[in-house]
Amino acid sequence: MSTGALQPLPPLRTRWLGQQHEHHESLPSTNDRALAWVDARHGALVTADAQSHGRGRHGRSWHSPPGANLYASIVLRPPPVQARRPGLALAVGLGLHAALSRRVDGVGLRWPNDVVVAGRKLAGILCEARWQGEAAHVVVGFGIDVLPQPWPPELAAIATSLAQHAEHPIDRATVLVEVLEALEPCLDDFFAGGFAAVRERYEASCVSLGRPGWITDADGSRREVLPVALDADGALLVRGDHEGLVRIDAGELLPAP
Ligand code: BTN
Repeated sequence: MSTGALQPLPPLRTRWLGQQHEHHESLPSTNDRALAWVDARHGALVTADAQSHGRGRHGRSWHSPPGANLYASIVLRPPPVQARRPGLALAVGLGLHAALSRRVDGVGLRWPNDVVVAGRKLAGILCEARWQGEAAHVVVGFGIDVLPQPWPPELAAIATSLAQHAEHPIDRATVLVEVLEALEPCLDDFFAGGFAAVRERYEASCVSLGRPGWITDADGSRREVLPVALDADGALLVRGDHEGLVRIDAGELLPAP
């Protein structure tokens, strides 16, 4: 099974996404490089074959061994109004979902921004932004586990890779191009109309809805919730005990045991 080199990429049919591309054998973190790339154009792409300090959400590290997976970050330079819109990472998840669903069956979105298959995590998204006055430098980073690999013990029961579910050999570069081509229209929709423009599609792919889950709040406390829908800005709507629907703006949602 070929891992495929990430440079040069196969032909990329996007208008603006990934047309400027910098590839590295290894980086501390593609997000860090993309945040530091001050003259990158809107849509510029940073990839690496390995990361020494890959970052995940909630201060976690991101498992980034060489050659097995995709580690990519995109620089976005939206106008301030668009940069402040919530739900960007969810729209990115939708793009990843569209592309990865072409490769394997049963891909779903776990709110807010995990891509999962068979209950295990396949990809994660980390959005970060720096502001200089009113100019936003937004970075969208995503990691996709592509090839089978020895997982560290803490991931063995919760992570999976595309190749473990695919019928055909998987090539990292082809997957990356497919992701970029699926992501561009999702980002166009998001920047034009905010999360509301992609909400229906997100809900249709969201495996969190209608299933009891454990939400971990910012202060670390956990409670069981029943997610039923997404609000227009991407917040999770859960059914409360007595009241109607309750909004959850951020947090980590895991299936109830
Ligand atoms: C998560 O699910 O916790 C988000 C994981 C995001 C990982 C990617 S890999 C490429 C980019 N560079 C990083 O350091 N993190 C993101």
